[in-house]
Amino acid sequence: MPVTILIGAQWGDEGKGRVVDWFAQQSQVVARYAGGDNAGHTVTIADNTFKLHIIPSGILHEQVTCILGQGVVLNPKRFLSEVADLHARGIDIAPQRLMISDRAHLITPGHMALDAASESALGDDAIGTTKRGIGPAYTDKVRRRGLQAGLMHTPEDLGEAIQRHIQEVNETLVNQYGAAPLDADKIAAEYAEYAQQLAPYITNIAPALLKALRQGQRVLCEGAQGTLLDVDMGHYPFVTSSSPSVGGALTGIGFGPTWVDRVVGVTKAFSTRVGSGPMPTELNDAIGDRLRGTGANPWDEYGTTTGRPRRCGWLDGVVLRYAAEVNGFTELILTKLDILSGFETLNIAVAYELDGQRVDYLPARVSDMERATPIYKTFTGWTDDITHVRTWEALPSAARQYVEFIEDMIGIPVTMMSVGPERSQMIVR
Ligand code: GDP
Ligand code: IMO
Ligand code: MG
Repeated sequence: MPVTILIGAQWGDEGKGRVVDWFAQQSQVVARYAGGDNAGHTVTIADNTFKLHIIPSGILHEQVTCILGQGVVLNPKRFLSEVADLHARGIDIAPQRLMISDRAHLITPGHMALDAASESALGDDAIGTTKRGIGPAYTDKVRRRGLQAGLMHTPEDLGEAIQRHIQEVNETLVNQYGAAPLDADKIAAEYAEYAQQLAPYITNIAPALLKALRQGQRVLCEGAQGTLLDVDMGHYPFVTSSSPSVGGALTGIGFGPTWVDRVVGVTKAFSTRVGSGPMPTELNDAIGDRLRGTGANPWDEYGTTTGRPRRCGWLDGVVLRYAAEVNGFTELILTKLDILSGFETLNIAVAYELDGQRVDYLPARVSDMERATPIYKTFTGWTDDITHVRTWEALPSAARQYVEFIEDMIGIPVTMMSVGPERSQMIVR
C-alpha cells in the first residue's frame, strides 16, 4: 500500500512543509489535496529557505512529481509567481513535474474581494482569514457556480464563465457590502493570459495517479492547514473552508482508503493558532511571548502567509488526542522541540474543566470550547541546547520524558522529532 497521508494535528503551521520535505526523499509523487495559497509551508535547506504557498513542498526533490488535486483551490496569479520565484532560484517546474487537476477550482480577484468585504463587515466577529479568497472560492464550488481549472483548455468558455462570475460577484459587492464593482473585461483578459501559461499543467490527474499507485510508487499526500481548521472537524465558523483532515485527502486527490498504509500527524511541541476562534491553552503572558519569539529568528511565530503574530500556548493534549482519533494517525511527528529548551517547567493540557466538570474529550461547540479551561500536567524542563542533537539517546532525559508522556497520552508512537528548521535537524527514532 503506497500512500502516506500527512496531516496537521493542530491549527496549521505545525511544520508540515519541512516534514513533507523529509518524507519526499522516499516518495515519487507528492500531492496537495486541500486549501489554496492560504497555506505557507517552510522548508530550510542549509542557508536556503523556501516558503511555498501552493506548490507542494516535495518539489525540492528532483525525483518527485507533484500534483495539485481537485480538493485544491488555485489562484493562477499566485501559482505562476511561485513558479517564477522557484525558477529564479534554480528550480524548474516543467509541466511534466507538476500536474493540476482539471477539476480543481480557480480563485479570482472576485473571490478575494468578497473575502475582504465579508471579513470587514463581520467586524469584531471576523474569522481572521488570510484574505486569499479561499472561503468564497469553495462557496462557489459547493453551490455549483465555480470555475474549474479545466476551463483553461477552452478559452472561450473561460471568458464567458469569468464574465458571468464577476457579474455575480459585483452584485454582492455593490448591493450587500456597498463596495466598488470589479472590471470583468480586465479580469477576463488577465485570465486568458494565465490560461496560456497554465494549460500545459492542467490535466485529468486520475490516470497518472492510478498508474503510479499500481506500480507501487510512494505517494505522499501533503496536508495544508490543520485538523482543527477543518470545516467539519474544527470549531465552526473559526475554520477554513476545506477538509484538511484525512477524508479530504481521499476526495481531494481521488483514491480509496485501501491504498493508504501511513497516516502521519504533525504537531508542534506547543500550540499556535492564527486568526480567531477558541484556544484553551493560549498564554497572553511572558511565556506566550517567549514561545512566539520576537521575530528576530526566521522560525519565530509570525504567519508565513500573512506575517501576523501567532497566538501561542502550551501543548493541548485534548486537541492532539482528538486529531489522532479522527484521522487515525499511525504515528506522530513532533516539531520545534528545541523551542522548549530553557523553560524551568513545561505544561501539557491533559483534560479541560468545563462548568465545574472534568472532560477529556474535545467539546464540539465553540461556546463550550470557549469556556473550557485546561487541566495541566507539569513537567520539569531541560536547560541544554538540543539543536545539535541527532539521536534519541542524546536528548536530555527531561525531553525524552516529555515526548514519552505524549506517546502514552495519545497511544501512538512519536517517530521523529525536529530540533531546528534545517532539513538535517531531525531525530529519527
Ligand atoms: P507549515 O505550514 O505546517 O508547513 O509550517 P510553517 O512553515 O508555516 O511554520 C513552521 C515554522 O517553524 C517555519 O518557520 C519553520 O522553518 C519552523 N520550524 C519547523 N520545524 C522546526 C524546528 O524543529 N525548530 C525550529 N526552531 N523551527 C522549526
Ligand atoms: P498552513 O498550511 C495557519 C487560518 C486563518 C483563519 C482561518 C480561515 O500554513 O498550516 P482562510 O483564509 O483559510 O479562509 O482562513 O484559517 N489558516 C491558517 N492558519 N496555517 C495555515 O496554513 C492556515 N490557512 C488558513 O488564519 O484563522
Ligand atoms: Mg504555515
